[in-house]
Amino acid sequence: MRTTGELMQAAWKAKTAIPGFNIPYLPMMEPVVRALRDTRCLGLIMVARLEWVKFESKSLRAIRDEYERVKDEGFTRLHLDHVPVIDEDNLRVDFERDLREAVELGYESVMVDGSRLSLDENIAATKAVVDMAHAKGVPVEAELGAVMGHEAGPMPPYEELFESGKGFTDPDEARRFVVETGVDWLSVAVGSVHGAISAAKRTEKKVEARLSIDQLDAIREAVNIPLVLHGGTGIRKSYVLDAIRHGIAKINVATAIRQPYEAHVEESVEKAQDAVYDTMLTVIREDLELEGTADLLDPLGG
Ligand code: 13P
Repeated sequence: MRTTGELMQAAWKAKTAIPGFNIPYLPMMEPVVRALRDTRCLGLIMVARLEWVKFESKSLRAIRDEYERVKDEGFTRLHLDHVPVIDEDNLRVDFERDLREAVELGYESVMVDGSRLSLDENIAATKAVVDMAHAKGVPVEAELGAVMGHEAGPMPPYEELFESGKGFTDPDEARRFVVETGVDWLSVAVGSVHGAISAAKRTEKKVEARLSIDQLDAIREAVNIPLVLHGGTGIRKSYVLDAIRHGIAKINVATAIRQPYEAHVEESVEKAQDAVYDTMLTVIREDLELEGTADLLDPLGG
């Protein structure tokens, strides 16, 4: 079985991407896995800390156990998404404890998010996680720059944010960050935003984001490792496809599959699962054009 690290390198070199799907409600996982298998798409099953704190994925262990029950290793791997050092409510998190627990539970790759820290502090926090995870053979993703949207307060108007380039990942900082931390993949800020997660705003339709492909090129040339695009829901399609050709090897999707689940779950869990499955097919086939990537990335797997 190819490791997640090997699969990400293969995706990056082939100029394709591995999509990651967030699981804020445990029953979402089964239709996500089934859709990946039915489209022969290799994808990551992901949980972020805020999904067991603010949604209903319960715990790292509960997600791992559900993964063991429904996984299909021809098409899926288990990834720990955002464990922030400072969370979306500005509170400090015992990130090292969560990350250590995930590695011990068998998560196959992990993300530490020090993006709300200064550069030096982000480097120190990320390096500590890389040392811990690499000792167990687990690859690490980190974030530099500000992919906004999870914070509770109001966001500045999107176009203003994009035009100003405020919060975009700086290529020189990225070069230093990657050399000093030894991180495997870097989440970059080049125009995407996360879907809102506060109770008041989580049903809102996301703005259609754009991406700066020039900024992405400059970052890729500076770091030369696989790059990750967060806020994968609702980005204008031509930008997503371009970004994949320009160094994005992993793209995170949460809002696109969470909202249909939440819209149907009061009718029944089965209806909500069907809605997730149908949306997954559209996301993989039409929005991301990633159908069949398992055959390319892991020909012996499926
Ligand atoms: P969206 O909610 O925009 O799909 O973003 C998901 C994400 O980046 C999770 O890390």
